[in-house]
Amino acid sequence: MLAPFFMWMEGLAVYQSSIYLGPGVNLAHLVAMVTFMGALLLVDLRCLGFGLTEQSVTQLARSAHRWLIGGLAGLVVTGIPAVMAVATQEYENNTFWWKMYILATAILWTFTVRRKVVQSHDPGLGGKAVAIVSILLWMAVAAGGRLIMYL
Ligand code: HEM
Repeated sequence: MLAPFFMWMEGLAVYQSSIYLGPGVNLAHLVAMVTFMGALLLVDLRCLGFGLTEQSVTQLARSAHRWLIGGLAGLVVTGIPAVMAVATQEYENNTFWWKMYILATAILWTFTVRRKVVQSHDPGLGGKAVAIVSILLWMAVAAGGRLIMYL
């Protein structure tokens, strides 16, 4: 059903103006990922009792929030042209679709369940479980991104 849309995106040949555009966007995607994962892990690991334990989970989550949102925005902005460049290939790639489904689940988890936990003053045992699910979901998205070219 979406095939014509993906063919149209590829037809735009978004990287044709420079040979540096593709590698540049890929690099920016990775920088955004490091920013995002850094902000996420600081807080998730803190929920598990590791890292910056001198700050409360709530304080740390508040400080990391802009990096979390900025990193995610950067991932979406750089991910879209990366898809457009090889859209028909991505359309037929199951790993790409798995990455997108897990990404949707991870975003939902982060901005609903996890958000509640990091805003509560004592995340407790439930908070630890939420942080573990969060880490696993986002690691799965990152692994999906890396595996697209192999599977
Ligand atoms: C709307 C959001 C996103 C889109 C559209 C997107 C799209 C893409 C595309 C098309 C690729 C290149 C795959 C290929 O070689 O064909 C890629 C690579 C990758 N993505 Fe994403 N991505 C998004 C979000 C994310 C997120 C949230 C993460 C991590 C948490 C992530 C991690 C990666 C990684 C690790 C790679 C491999 C980079 C490399 O090895 O050079 N992506 N992504």
